[in-house]
Amino acid sequence: MQQPPTRTPSTAHGLRRRTVARLLATVPLALGLPKTGATPAAKPILIQFSHVVAPETAKGRAALRFKELAESRTGGKVRVEVYPNSTLYKDGEEVEALRLGSVQMLATSLSKLAKWGGGDFELFDLPFLFKDQAAFHAAVDGPAGAALLRQLEPKGIQGLAYWDNGFKVFTANRPLQTVGDFKGLKFRVQASRVLVEQMQVLGAQTSVSPLINVRGALQEGRLDGQENTPSNIHTQGLHEVQTHLTVSNHGYLAYAVLVNKSFWARLPSAIRTTLEAAMRDATTYANSIAEAENTRALERIRAAGRLTVHTPGPQELASWRAALQPVYQASSRWIRPEALAAIRTAMGKPP
Ligand code: LMR
Repeated sequence: MQQPPTRTPSTAHGLRRRTVARLLATVPLALGLPKTGATPAAKPILIQFSHVVAPETAKGRAALRFKELAESRTGGKVRVEVYPNSTLYKDGEEVEALRLGSVQMLATSLSKLAKWGGGDFELFDLPFLFKDQAAFHAAVDGPAGAALLRQLEPKGIQGLAYWDNGFKVFTANRPLQTVGDFKGLKFRVQASRVLVEQMQVLGAQTSVSPLINVRGALQEGRLDGQENTPSNIHTQGLHEVQTHLTVSNHGYLAYAVLVNKSFWARLPSAIRTTLEAAMRDATTYANSIAEAENTRALERIRAAGRLTVHTPGPQELASWRAALQPVYQASSRWIRPEALAAIRTAMGKPP
């Protein structure tokens, strides 16, 4: 059975130092990147792919699948180094690192992209917007999803694909069955005003913190609860430091795979075409395993027996939906109505 990580913050720092040392060792390779019109360098082109979750998650596995496909299909002309679990950059740091060219590829939660792509990216956090994985793909796999990714381009970021994780659940150090149960608790959220608003509507306080810090903060009582997918909860060991989990499925966590735009443009076109095809296949893989990863993770969390799992019935869920409705109104201050309407129309819902 897969073991949850037992890293402490100090070993995480050690890991980061070691990886930075490795990164410095690769600088000559990074300098060997092709320039427009130049003959491709003899050394492999290096793609550093950083992410903040465990290698066993769907994202972690898909990143490795991309590495395997990219390296084999380019006959070794491209080398991909995957840095999982915030070993290189934490959330909050990784997009800036991509823009600066310190890494070339990321798969970042959509919740964290408003700073670069505008407030529209936070529409993905609206409670109960997507009824299932198919609805999310109906929304993003067409022009509305492509238009959102284009909003990142002025910031030097190019979006290549959407990858799934899945539906988020709540955990806390007390039962969460009614909306009133959140009152006075402090929850970790990702850097999204919609998520802050969601918790405020529920009467909770929030702390925006990097995923890698969440387990320690819950363990030490600096946080009372958090929301994430079962796969992230299990692989980060969060179920070991919480007493209750509610299968609320109230929001969807998904990613944009991003590259440094000028790096991507400077690749020899045959290599770029090969990498685009490798990304398409890695995307199909990611999105085919995500749901099962979460189902399996929830089973493992239950089997570990460290917390009590509550599955709300239809009436309870209806009251959660109603309670969270004001989040839509509040967030219309920064999510453009036409962006939300385009996503809703793509899902076959009235705008
Ligand atoms: C989180 O910060 O909870 C998630 O965005 C992590 C991830 O990338 O799945």
